[in-house]
Amino acid sequence: MSNLVKIKNKISRFNKKLLIDGDKSLSIRWALLSSQSLKKSRSSNLLLSEDVMSTLNCLKKLGVKVKISKSFCEMIGVGLNGFKYKKDLTLNAGNSGTLGRLILGLLVHSKKEIKIKGDESLSKRDFLRVIKPLEGFGAKFKSANGKLPIKIQGTNNSKPIRYYENKGSAQCKSAVMFAALNTFGETVIKAKKSRDHSELLFKYLKLPIKIYKRNKYDIIKIFGKSKIPALNYKIPSDISSAAFFIVLTALSKKSRLKILNVNINPSRLGVFYILKLMGVKISKLNIRNYKGEKIADLVIKSTNRIKPINCPVKFNSSAIDEYLLIFLVAAKAKGISYFKNLSELNEKESPRLKWGSKILNKMGVKNIVTKNSIKIYGNPNLKIKKKIIIKNFLKDHRVFMTSVIAALSFGGSWQISDKNSINTSFPSFLDKIGHLGAIIE
Ligand code: S3P
Repeated sequence: MSNLVKIKNKISRFNKKLLIDGDKSLSIRWALLSSQSLKKSRSSNLLLSEDVMSTLNCLKKLGVKVKISKSFCEMIGVGLNGFKYKKDLTLNAGNSGTLGRLILGLLVHSKKEIKIKGDESLSKRDFLRVIKPLEGFGAKFKSANGKLPIKIQGTNNSKPIRYYENKGSAQCKSAVMFAALNTFGETVIKAKKSRDHSELLFKYLKLPIKIYKRNKYDIIKIFGKSKIPALNYKIPSDISSAAFFIVLTALSKKSRLKILNVNINPSRLGVFYILKLMGVKISKLNIRNYKGEKIADLVIKSTNRIKPINCPVKFNSSAIDEYLLIFLVAAKAKGISYFKNLSELNEKESPRLKWGSKILNKMGVKNIVTKNSIKIYGNPNLKIKKKIIIKNFLKDHRVFMTSVIAALSFGGSWQISDKNSINTSFPSFLDKIGHLGAIIE
């Protein structure tokens, strides 16, 4: 089957309801935390994407029992410090930074050396950011410049650490939280605000965690070595996946979309607030709580007048996975938009700040990009007539999906490679696009 899609027409008006796939961050955390319980845990609506399957495969290799059926996934974990595996084990984290970094937190106590590898994209990403704090617990690492493949040799006598997380990275924070869970004593983390799913799950499970705010930072204290209860969980839909459809609706003509059951955790809502500031008609309905998380239905309407934005940097972490899409909205704004302090965007599956600029250039949208910022000259009458070819050599799923949204929103004749990359995070993406009536070859 071809891995290329061709799009020749904009999407026609639509008025639909959608249910998006399960949240990736929560799916991976559900699996990793459940592996630390001796009880049977069950999840429904687990995202069955490649990143989550890589997580389940790694855990199986570590002695965890996993059963997947159509409607749920069950896991019988091994308990804290209970992984069972043979010598010379290699774990494959595939494309997933979340898996690769978080699992290292659980392996700080591994008895035999374990090798972790990943695909071409993951092997280019920085692991020193987790290696450094995890060495503080007593684990030993072998790697070339902090890149995969790396080897970890755990310790049976880990020491709690004090850690300052200053990138706004939930992966770094969570890796340390997972290591702290299995370490006697109090680990203290001072963290720049980032997504807090791990904290909410720890609290829901009544694990010994204290969280308070000091200035702009979260102070997180974890008292290690408690028993982990079963984690039964219904995963809500992923706002990062919903964002493709939010932006498609906002940029389309006379359309309306309701997206059901979306996780609206405030630490993930940057995209919502940024788009609102840009004048996008979006609202939350039927807000409810679920085991510490917040869920709502979102209603989005086409928006004729998009305002430019001087994007507040306070949203950088909570919108980190949505910036490529936000740049498309800025392309249609009446005026110039500014986005700053975004160097972390270049640390993703591919250098996304550069790719944002590249896509805009191909669309004929003037922009000025630096190492950590981009200035976008919007055009409310933007219509693309030319042929555009997108091939991201690192097969970044969000580059592929953003390009599809650009093609359906602005027109032109697009050829976009690496369709299969959607399996990383959002396997039903193209089916959902079809459900809205778009024609894709
Ligand atoms: C994630 C955190 C973010 C995000 C990634 C998922 C998580 O990465 O970009 O897609 O589940 O913790 P960083 O923590 O590196 O910013």
